[in-house]
Amino acid sequence: MASRIRLLRLAQRPSFSTACRRVSRPRHFTSSSKALSDSVFVHRDTEANNPSIPFKFSAENDKLIAEILARYPSQYKKAAVMPLLDLGQRQHGFTSISVMNEVARLLEMPPMRVYEVATFYTMYNRNPVGKYHVQVCTTTPCQLCDSDAVMQAVESELGIHHGQTTADGLFTFTEVECLGACANAPMIQINDDYYEDLTAATTTQLLKALKAAETSGGQKVEVPKAGPLSGRESCEPAGGLTSLTSAPWGNETLRKDGALD
Ligand code: FES
Repeated sequence: MASRIRLLRLAQRPSFSTACRRVSRPRHFTSSSKALSDSVFVHRDTEANNPSIPFKFSAENDKLIAEILARYPSQYKKAAVMPLLDLGQRQHGFTSISVMNEVARLLEMPPMRVYEVATFYTMYNRNPVGKYHVQVCTTTPCQLCDSDAVMQAVESELGIHHGQTTADGLFTFTEVECLGACANAPMIQINDDYYEDLTAATTTQLLKALKAAETSGGQKVEVPKAGPLSGRESCEPAGGLTSLTSAPWGNETLRKDGALD
């Protein structure tokens, strides 16, 4: 009885009850606030993207699919899921739910397995994009080389924020992670092309040229060719060669100082 009273008294102490509450609270593994992505990873039916819209690969793509499938043992044909999704996106304009379902049917995979792939990789656009998909890299190397200026130039030239498409359906603007061309930072990808070594001025010039090409009524418009827009050919040092400036040593080259004779 005495020990029960002691326990009751102990329970009434503020420090004891706080400790009990602390123990009974659920454990959190992180103390930072939740950062929710602005991209929805679940599918929501829309007029342009729902499973009742039929999708079939074209005859030309059927041939490519046969060629791709021939690269894998027949029991592992699901390994072709990524190239097939890519083909579907190129044919349909984006990776719709019907494209995913058709890929699942062809590869005899549960549709959920295909959805998992398509929602993991950001290069699968699960919603319609404009004729020019402008993807601006803002990962650290590009950011250190002023990708902020590139972002602002795209925003002010196109009049949209990232994640949006222009009213005429020509441009979609997306902010993306590293595109693997850090030696030519900052850079953007427009459809399949990389434009590199950018400044705000060259970015604006590029977008103006693309717009002009669309409204020129067939007149030839000079659009900068893909690659570095700084005059570099590739990712060579801008100030000229700094190494390998003389003939390299090889097996057939002997030391001339006689040290190894
Ligand atoms: S950080 Fe931009 S391409 Fe790698």
